[in-house]
Amino acid sequence: MPKTSYLKNLSRTLRAPFNRQWSFRRLRTYHEERRSVPELVNWAMTFGGSGFLTIHTVQKHSEILALAQEVAQLKPRIILEIGTARAGTLLIWAGLANDRVLTCDLFHSPAQIPLLEALPPPDSDCQVSLLTGDSHTPEFKQRVASALGGEKVDFLFIDGDHTEAGVEQDYEDYKEFVRPGGLIAFHDIVAKQAIPTNQVYPFWERVKRSRDYKEFIDDREQTGFGIGLLRVPSTSS
Ligand SMILES: C[S@@+](CC[C@H](N)C(=O)[O-])C[C@H]1O[C@@H](n2cnc3c(N)ncnc32)[C@H](O)[C@@H]1O
Repeated sequence: MPKTSYLKNLSRTLRAPFNRQWSFRRLRTYHEERRSVPELVNWAMTFGGSGFLTIHTVQKHSEILALAQEVAQLKPRIILEIGTARAGTLLIWAGLANDRVLTCDLFHSPAQIPLLEALPPPDSDCQVSLLTGDSHTPEFKQRVASALGGEKVDFLFIDGDHTEAGVEQDYEDYKEFVRPGGLIAFHDIVAKQAIPTNQVYPFWERVKRSRDYKEFIDDREQTGFGIGLLRVPSTSS
């Protein structure tokens, strides 16, 4: 690990007890009432915090709200997410799923795990499970399969590796876990991207052909963002 990253991680770890207090206080406020879909999205974007105890998402408000509304209509039992990061989208899924959210990332800090597991509303039966590892490895896919125990998910959110090959592999590997009539969404589908490794666009253009799809794009001229949504056919043909 480079020295600067090491020092940053050390500093975050030392500050974790103080940040934890703040974040759990904030969580209690969030849990004071059952949140509507727009409120879930607002909380995901403004929860805040510091270090590993931050909850935040880098999304366009109108896009993630439109997606959350689609997902809510499914009355989802189980949601699978690739790409936890600072858990903003996880907060939304944990407020929508009735049974379980599995969220995957290359790294989850031990400091952030209790906060993320505590995200579902107090009156909800939803459980959050964090799976740490590389979504592209067969071993990791097997861990997802074991965690699901043969159950299908209602919604798969692919927001991990944004290279064209990476997003395609996540789609090919994990689409089998989505139930008929379920939804699969991809983040960062617009053509213009500030980060050169964000290459979801060419994959999205291929995969959406002859499919039941929607696009949530705040502004067609924007750089970055954009959400693509596929509906899995209700019956296999
Ligand atoms: C854009 S962030 C996710 C943002 C989050 N969904 C949100 O909006 O709140 C992408 C995350 O994917 C993770 N990631 C990248 N490649 C991955 C892989 N091969 N397997 C698992 N996670 C990966 C990164 O570590 C990063 O935290």
